[in-house]
Amino acid sequence: MADSLASQIAQNLVLADTPAIHVDEVKGNDQTGKGTIESPLKTTVSAVAVLEAIPANVQSSFSIVVKKDGETEYKDISGAALKKAKKTHEINKKKAQKNEERGAKEEAAVAAKAHEEARKLEDSKKIKLEQDPSLPAPVEVKLKDVPKNLEKRVKVSGWVKSRRDQGKDMVFLVLRDGTGYLQCVLTGKLCHTFDALTLTLESTVNVYGIINRLPEGKTAPGNVELVADYWEVVGKAPGGDDAYSSLFNTESNPDVLRRLRHLVLRGDTASSVLKVRSRTMKAFRDHFDSLDWYEVNPPCLVQTQVEGGSTLFALNYYGENAYLTQSSQLYLETCLASLGSVYTISESFRAEKSHTRRHLSEYSHCEAEIPFIKFKDLLDTIEGMVKGVVARLWDEPETRKMLVELNLRKNDEANDETKAAQIVGRDFADIKSLIEQPFLRMEYKDAIKWLNEHGVKREEDGKDFVYGDDIPEKPERYMTDAINKPILLTHFPRSIKAFYMQRADVSELKGYEDFMHDPPTESVDLLVPGVGEVVGGSMRIWDTEELMDAFVREGLNPETYYWYLDQRRYGTMPHGGFGLGIERFLAWITNRFSVREVCLYPRFTECCQP
Ligand code: 4AD
Repeated sequence: MADSLASQIAQNLVLADTPAIHVDEVKGNDQTGKGTIESPLKTTVSAVAVLEAIPANVQSSFSIVVKKDGETEYKDISGAALKKAKKTHEINKKKAQKNEERGAKEEAAVAAKAHEEARKLEDSKKIKLEQDPSLPAPVEVKLKDVPKNLEKRVKVSGWVKSRRDQGKDMVFLVLRDGTGYLQCVLTGKLCHTFDALTLTLESTVNVYGIINRLPEGKTAPGNVELVADYWEVVGKAPGGDDAYSSLFNTESNPDVLRRLRHLVLRGDTASSVLKVRSRTMKAFRDHFDSLDWYEVNPPCLVQTQVEGGSTLFALNYYGENAYLTQSSQLYLETCLASLGSVYTISESFRAEKSHTRRHLSEYSHCEAEIPFIKFKDLLDTIEGMVKGVVARLWDEPETRKMLVELNLRKNDEANDETKAAQIVGRDFADIKSLIEQPFLRMEYKDAIKWLNEHGVKREEDGKDFVYGDDIPEKPERYMTDAINKPILLTHFPRSIKAFYMQRADVSELKGYEDFMHDPPTESVDLLVPGVGEVVGGSMRIWDTEELMDAFVREGLNPETYYWYLDQRRYGTMPHGGFGLGIERFLAWITNRFSVREVCLYPRFTECCQP
């Protein structure tokens, strides 16, 4: 028992003139007890501490009374028990004293250290670094070019990714500048300045010095290091509670990671994903360029829907109703007569209420439209594009390296699902070999059969799927994962697809006799393992009357689509196209769990920041 508590209890007992210190070994409490019959202590050792705190002149009139387990009344403490309790109390007192002394010593040591550090910091302010004018002028290089400048004096600029101190005279910094990483070694006076002592992670610095090959047995990025002769801070990052390393880690709550996305982007995984994203956009453009297709830039503010009214973002456009575009398809169709085949990579918007790993409110949509083709040509074009783009990425050594690493790295960044649902590492070569084989081509009605044969049931009523059912995300992914190949799933019934899709010629198909109430369309979804649908496409209705019927059937006002209809009136032709969700494609090739991880700043339900 602490001295202060014992004194307090003793004082109260003296004031109340209660000469017995009560100990109830069952119901008493040494923390809250008062030594009275109503509120007894628990141990005789505490009672001895209280007795000792009673002033000497009245102490002899006080005694300790004890109620043991099973007893109903308090009895005077026995001589032997009192002796034992006093002995234990003495031991406790000595221990407490020792602890106090140790605590005081430690406090003094901490204070001395703090004093010493404050003194060192003060002294460090007097140390000023200067460039040596006799040294050769430095070559300014980006970090990726450092290995090409061996043994030259360079100047590099970047963010401090890590810092390791070795003794008092050596600091290793790893810098990052977006193009690469470099270890810089600061020695002697260079690591004694105020800036050196207070340098925090994510501060920006300029470092000057000679690039050397790493000594045998050491490791650092690129196997080189910069031995600095001068350095300076450009911008310091906060330390303490606001330090970059204190803000989050991979275990942080997804909401925290989302709010700090602008800082999370600096991490290895996020930056590799964004680099792969940039290369992927280029690979799509290069692929279309190799086909001599033109890129066009349709508007995002529109007054027509493409993919159904339920996912439209509506807005007031100078007093008129307008929407954020769901797809640029209709505008691409209007370009065919002037440019031939065209494509765009533009933002599309969907007011998706569902929180899934593959739905965003805003996504990058790669869409293309091709005139004078047949449905089979469309399927070949989609397959050729996916194969061509993956092959281009594979052929770039730097991109391939990032893809290999990302595929191996299990998913550890922001997602809402449990850890158990995370994707585990895999070999990127698996994707390469997948795209080298012909994609499976399967009709929708056969997918329904497949699901039923494999015991996959409808979620809403646990019954078998029937022709006309939309195949939801989970069963679709289950089937794709089980088949483990890209699947071009074709011939969806008209009722579950968009208004513009061309009816299929059933004379070329088998087994549709029972389904003509909801005829198949020349439509396709490309499904890939791990993600499901990445592409949606179709042949388009090219006959004006048929298109007018579709507008009536879907309750759309043909007047707002006058320009789309003119496409049929002024020289129509069979044509088709498709749209690929860049984020879904990226989630597939980078082995990320959610499409949110491959966006710069994902937009989804309730998230519009940063
Ligand atoms: O299947 P969708 O809705 O097709 C169209 O929009 C057509 N007009 C495209 C065309 O033929 N030009 O969407 C095409 C693709 C989907 O396969 C998917 O990859 C992606 O766009 N997508 C989404 N990606 C992320 N979040 C969403 N909410 C998406 N909705 C569709």
